[in-house]
Amino acid sequence: MDRTQVAIIGAGPSGLLLSQLLYLNGIDNIVLERQSREHVAGRIRAGVLEQGTVELLLKAKLGERMLSERLVHDGVSLAFAGRSVRVDLKALTGSSVSVYGQTEVTKDLMDARTAAGAKLMFEAAEVAVADFDSAHPKVRYRHNGRTHELTCDFIAGCDGYHGVCRQSIPQGALQTFERTYPFGWLGILADVPPASHELIYSNHARGFALCSMRSMTRSRYYVQCGLDEKLEAWSDARFWDELRVRLPDEIAAAVITGPSIEKSIAPLRSFVVEPLRFGQLFLVGDAAHIVPPTGAKGLNLAAADVRVLYQALVEYYRTSRTDLLERYSQMALRRAWQAVRFSWWFTSIMHKFSDDPFNHRLQLAELDYLSGSTAALTSLAENYVGLPFEV
Ligand code: FAD
Ligand code: DHB
Repeated sequence: MDRTQVAIIGAGPSGLLLSQLLYLNGIDNIVLERQSREHVAGRIRAGVLEQGTVELLLKAKLGERMLSERLVHDGVSLAFAGRSVRVDLKALTGSSVSVYGQTEVTKDLMDARTAAGAKLMFEAAEVAVADFDSAHPKVRYRHNGRTHELTCDFIAGCDGYHGVCRQSIPQGALQTFERTYPFGWLGILADVPPASHELIYSNHARGFALCSMRSMTRSRYYVQCGLDEKLEAWSDARFWDELRVRLPDEIAAAVITGPSIEKSIAPLRSFVVEPLRFGQLFLVGDAAHIVPPTGAKGLNLAAADVRVLYQALVEYYRTSRTDLLERYSQMALRRAWQAVRFSWWFTSIMHKFSDDPFNHRLQLAELDYLSGSTAALTSLAENYVGLPFEV
C-alpha cells in the first residue's frame, strides 16, 4: 500500500496549486485526476485573475511566464442603454486585475509539477475516498488496469462540482445552498483582436453580452443564451450578429469577426456547501462552491481556498498546530459567501431574467445610478478586484 501525507483529488487549478505549494514546503502529496492531461489542459474557462491570485501563483514560483504574458487591466466597462461607462478599478481601489487564461495557469502548474517530478496520476479511474473520519484516511483508484490503495493524513477534495469527495460525505453532515439561473452563457474563442483593450460587460434587452480576451490577438466573447439551446444552432455568423446587436453601436463597430476556435455553453449556478471539512477531508474550490461567471470569481475563489488550506497544513506539519485546520471551513466560507453575493448581484443587474419590461427598467436605473455614484462604483470595483484577505 502506498503512503503520502496529503492525497489531492482533482488536477484542476485548485488541486495543482495546492500540490505545488505543499511540495515547496516539503509536504509529500499525490494528485489523482480522472481525465487525461490533454483534456485538463484544453479546458477553456476563466480569464481574469485578482491581484491576490497573481501573488499566490508567484509564491508558488510560477510567475515568470504569467508576468510577461498577462494583460494588466486597470478598468472594465459597463454597457447599457446604448452607452458605456468605464469603471476605473485602479483609481477606485488602487488595484488592477490580470487577464491570463485558466488554460495558461493550468499549463504553468502542470509544467512546474512535472519538472519537480510530482506524483501526478492522470486517468485515475474509480477514485474512492474512505476512512476520512479517522486518522488514517484511504484512497482507492484504478490506474493502467490495476487497483491501488493509498493511505494518507489528509484528503483534499479539489475535484470540482461533479467530484467524488463531496458526494462521499454522509448525507446530513452537509448543508447545501443553491440557486440556478434560467439561462447560460454561450462562449466563443477566436483569433481576432479584441473590440476594446479592456473587458466590456453589456446589459441589453435581448440579454447579456461580454467582450473579453486572452491576448491582443485572441478574443473571448460570451452571449447569454437559453438553457435548452443547442450549440449546433449557433453558427459563427449567428453568434457575431447576436453579439453586435447587444453592444452599443460604437463597440459593435469595433468587433472584428473570424472563425471560432472553441464554442461552448455553460449553465449558471450559485452553490455552497457547509462545512468544508469533514474529519480529515477538506473541500476546496468548485467542489465546495460554484458562482455564476459574471463576477469572474470562480478560479479566484478556488485559489483563495488553497491559500488558507496550504498555510494550515504547513503549520500543522511544522508545529503540530491544528487550530488553522479547524478554522479552514469558516475562513474559506466567509470569503466564498462574499463572492457568491457579488456574483449573484452582478448577474442580477446584467442579465435578462424575463420579458417583463419593469425588470429591465429597474436594471437600467441601477446601472444609471452606479455610473453616477463614486460610492456605488467603488463597491463594485472593490469586489471585482477581490476583497482583502483575512489575516
Ligand atoms: P475544476 O477546475 O473543476 O477541477 C476539478 C478537477 O477534478 C477536474 O480536472 C476533474 O476532471 C477532476 N475530477 C472530478 N471528479 C473526479 C474524480 N472522481 N476523480 C478524480 N478527479 C476528478 N470561472 C470564471 O471565473 N470565469 C469563467 O468564464 C468560467 N467559465 C467556466 C466554464 C465552465 C464550463 C466551468 C465548469 C467553470 C467555469 N468557471 C469560470 C469556473 C472556474 O473555471 C472554476 O471555478 C475553476 O476551474 C475551479 O477550479 P477547481 O480546481 O476547484 O475545479
Ligand atoms: C471571462 C470570464 C468571465 O466570467 C468574466 O467575468 C470575465 C472574463 C473570460 O473568460 O475571459
